[in-house]
Amino acid sequence: MIMPIYIIEHLEPKLWEWSIIEYKHIAQLVGKSNCWITHLKTTNPKLRQQAKVIPQSVTKLGLSKVCVLDPEAPKMLTPLEAKKFDYFVFGGILGDHPAQKRTKKELTQQFPFLVESRNIGKVQMSTDNAVAVVQEIVKGAKFSELHFQDEIEIPLQKNESVLFPYRYLLREGKPLVSPELIAYLKKKNKF
Ligand SMILES: C[S@@+](CC[C@H](N)C(=O)[O-])C[C@H]1O[C@@H](n2cnc3c(N)ncnc32)[C@H](O)[C@@H]1O
Repeated sequence: MIMPIYIIEHLEPKLWEWSIIEYKHIAQLVGKSNCWITHLKTTNPKLRQQAKVIPQSVTKLGLSKVCVLDPEAPKMLTPLEAKKFDYFVFGGILGDHPAQKRTKKELTQQFPFLVESRNIGKVQMSTDNAVAVVQEIVKGAKFSELHFQDEIEIPLQKNESVLFPYRYLLREGKPLVSPELIAYLKKKNKF
């Protein structure tokens, strides 16, 4: 079976530390050769070691068999359909609450042709979680067979924690969160 390529179109105005951590996590999930970060002019060595970094937008690469993961897409991705795509494209967009429909405006509608798009439920996930869910669907799982937790609380220091109002995939009963992100949040909270 040929593994699809997971493409993250960077759409934030800057390359935040948070985005770097998330993109590295995605590369760990899908493997370096299956992870492309597009629309990113960076020399950041941490990222370039982990994934293929491409300065152009994915919308200009002339790819075919592309599926954009968009919460606003009318259809949900199924295991059967997932087999026909070679490229899954995600927005490199940090979570916003309530969601601003940025994926539709800044990614799906920017392709020069009518690109296929699918949702994985209507609830917003972080980009790394969305990638992990698509990976499970590509392997044959139906969305209804996956388990989720909506909203997570990450403890920081004594009596302090941070809440994320997004949907997380449960793996072995635990929400999928990059350990590096937890360490980053704890460190940031100390200052
Ligand atoms: C944190 S989300 C940002 C979504 C953004 N707030 C919006 O309104 O479009 C980052 C990316 O993960 C993917 N994603 C997250 N949840 C999704 C869902 N329920 N269905 C499809 N894609 C999703 C999309 O590719 C999205 O661009």
